[in-house]
Amino acid sequence: MRLLGKTAIITGGGGGIGRSTAIRFAKEGAKVAVADIDSIIGEETVRLIKEKGGEAIFVKTDVTDSEQIKALINTTKSTFGALHILFNNAGVGNSEVRSIDLSEQEWDRVIDINLKGVFLGIKYAVPELIKAGGGAIINTSSLLGLKGQKYVSAYNASKAGVVMLTQNASLEYGKFNIRVNAIAPGVIDTPIIDHWKQDERKWPIISRANALRRIGTPDEVANAVLFLASDEASFITGTTLSVDGGGLAF
Ligand SMILES: NC(=O)c1ccc[n+]([C@@H]2O[C@H](COP(=O)([O-])OP(=O)(O)OC[C@H]3O[C@@H](n4cnc5c(N)ncnc54)[C@H](O)[C@@H]3O)[C@@H](O)[C@H]2O)c1
Repeated sequence: MRLLGKTAIITGGGGGIGRSTAIRFAKEGAKVAVADIDSIIGEETVRLIKEKGGEAIFVKTDVTDSEQIKALINTTKSTFGALHILFNNAGVGNSEVRSIDLSEQEWDRVIDINLKGVFLGIKYAVPELIKAGGGAIINTSSLLGLKGQKYVSAYNASKAGVVMLTQNASLEYGKFNIRVNAIAPGVIDTPIIDHWKQDERKWPIISRANALRRIGTPDEVANAVLFLASDEASFITGTTLSVDGGGLAF
């Protein structure tokens, strides 16, 4: 088991990528704190883990709220004793309009969840990882954090910000044996892309816009996150790993 004895927090743990990763981490021996703003799907992830004999708790958390992040970390520590891995994964898309038509409120909402949420996770988890003698942080960026696309200005900017926060934190905390990496998924089959699937004109194009000519599964992303969280990635930090079927190359 690749994460035996480790404790991990996964934000957005009720969603597609978060749930697959939570289940995968638990299978590899980790104790998992599933954090999500949505209790129903978050509790379901915990149920699925426990059903297979794994250890998990759900902590309802809004990643934009520092008090809730602090409470998440405290609850995780008091339940499992320490913290070794943080998967900063909660995120939202923005409605697809030109930036001049995007409301300030929506800009703020997307930046708050996708970028400030990652900052707060790092801010409050790092002291605990230092106490644990080191650890791993994985942040969820996106193919759209590496490549511009029309009509998703807030999403593009938030996910590009995650790439730089990742590099920044890797430099600040490497000396404490903390590795900080990001993943950049392409189009992955989760609820966040449901609106694209409804678009009969665009979907055939979007769903084949990579070298492998198909969309990815949440489990394929979870495999990459597991690798970055595990000791197999012991000399990898500050990097952003594309999990996009060749979408960036396309
Ligand atoms: N699916 C894709 O094609 C794709 C591609 C690139 C990047 N991503 C990123 O992957 C991550 C996971 O997304 P997903 O595809 O699993 O979609 P998803 O919608 O299934 O999961 C997102 C999760 O984040 C949670 N969340 C939203 N706001 C929150 C908040 N304020 N506090 C805590 N939790 C909150 C949601 O409840 C949901 O469970 C996101 O950061 C997303 O931007 C997804």
